[in-house]
Amino acid sequence: MPLCFPIFLSSFSYLFFTFCASSLPSFLPLSIPSYFLSPHPPLGVFTRTLRRTPGLRAREVTAQMNRAVYEERPPGGLVPTSVAEASRAMAGDTTLSENYAFAGMYHIFDQHVDSAVPRLQFANDDKHLLACCSLDGTLSIMTLSPPPPTVKVTLKGHAGRVTDFAWSLSNDIIVSTSQDGTLRIWNTEDGRCIREVVDPEGSELLCCTFQPMNNNLTVVGNSKHLLQVVNISTGKRVKGGSSKLTGRVSSLSFDAPGRILWAGDDRGSIFSFLFDMATGKLTKAKRLVVSDGGSISSISARSWISREARDPSLLVNACIHKLLLYRVVDNEGTLQLKRTFPIQHGTQPLHSIFCPLMSFRQGACVVTGSEDACVYFFDVERNTKAIVNKLHGHGGPVLDVSFNCDESLLASSDTTGMVIIWRREQK
Ligand SMILES: *[C@@H]1O[C@H](CO)[C@@H](O)[C@H](O)[C@H]1NC(C)=O
Ligand SMILES: *[C@@H]1O[C@H](CO)[C@@H](O)[C@H](O)[C@H]1NC(C)=O
Repeated sequence: MPLCFPIFLSSFSYLFFTFCASSLPSFLPLSIPSYFLSPHPPLGVFTRTLRRTPGLRAREVTAQMNRAVYEERPPGGLVPTSVAEASRAMAGDTTLSENYAFAGMYHIFDQHVDSAVPRLQFANDDKHLLACCSLDGTLSIMTLSPPPPTVKVTLKGHAGRVTDFAWSLSNDIIVSTSQDGTLRIWNTEDGRCIREVVDPEGSELLCCTFQPMNNNLTVVGNSKHLLQVVNISTGKRVKGGSSKLTGRVSSLSFDAPGRILWAGDDRGSIFSFLFDMATGKLTKAKRLVVSDGGSISSISARSWISREARDPSLLVNACIHKLLLYRVVDNEGTLQLKRTFPIQHGTQPLHSIFCPLMSFRQGACVVTGSEDACVYFFDVERNTKAIVNKLHGHGGPVLDVSFNCDESLLASSDTTGMVIIWRREQK
């Protein structure tokens, strides 16, 4: 039976539009004109209860997998079975295309409309809480449950475009960077700015990330090529925690144990750094020139992708019309190109992600934004026809994508300021 759900849409007047998703084959892209923005929460079946929390939570499984990969796995050994089974139970026994079929839009947030939303991210281990930052100088924290979806709190204070942000592990804090030259630390409950850390060089701050094992430490990148570790409980820069790249620092990612940091710049280089957990010091290790002149707009690290591909990997967007997948070949973060996927990507700061659930099916999935206003899903193990799915609906280049912890919802943001929440089909 086709599932039809009403959405309130508006251009100049409100239209009532019925969207029948499963009457389409699931591999067909969903096409919703982008000027249909929703000022109201969707009604009816849209707001029904989402899938219940799996017994073992996604982050716990991920943490166990990381330990297995980095500490417990004998060379060439298999991934532990109990964790594998827990992950399989969450992912289900479906093919990748079935698994990443989408039932339609769950909600559209338009509070930042007319200003690009460069980053968005679901909170850790939370299915319904997400945040995004905007070039309008604010960040918003949104909640999808209990329905209707709402903007819970707006983080106001930056005096320039907000370029990046990150959730702390316990979701109590968000750090953000801005072109106003400040790093801000926010209380996510009440939206209060707890601390402001001014860049010593007075330059624009472009990216930030938490040290995954010690959330007192944040790494920040600026437009004068400087990378620095900041102790957010004091607001002070960590001695020995700075380094220069060859261009504006455009992206950052730690490996899961927080031992290696990769930083990309706008001249196309990725540097790896060894991170000393006790002192917060950075040691430059390797440099890889990915592209000559293209900005490295996104780096995501993953300790392993699937049963077939258990190597640590790095997913990279580099403004060269390709999404790049690297294998991490040693403890210094040396990268070896594994494969590429064609996407439209010339100039925009596009981001991509690994799907959060560990894959025990054939293959594994990555998701990326694209300048053709679509969201793409690729199977990293499939040599031909790697596209698993493609979502239409944005009105401009899709800048960022984020899955919630059980992959029931995907969020995507674009240059027009629209944030779309997509609902995955639940088998
Ligand atoms: C962070 O700093 C606070 C004190 O400011 C300390 O109590 C806490 O243990 C620190 N956390 C970590 C992970 O080091
Ligand atoms: C960060 O600051 C806290 C509070 O002063 C301190 O306890 C901690 O050791 C500092 N961490 C590092 C790595 O400097």
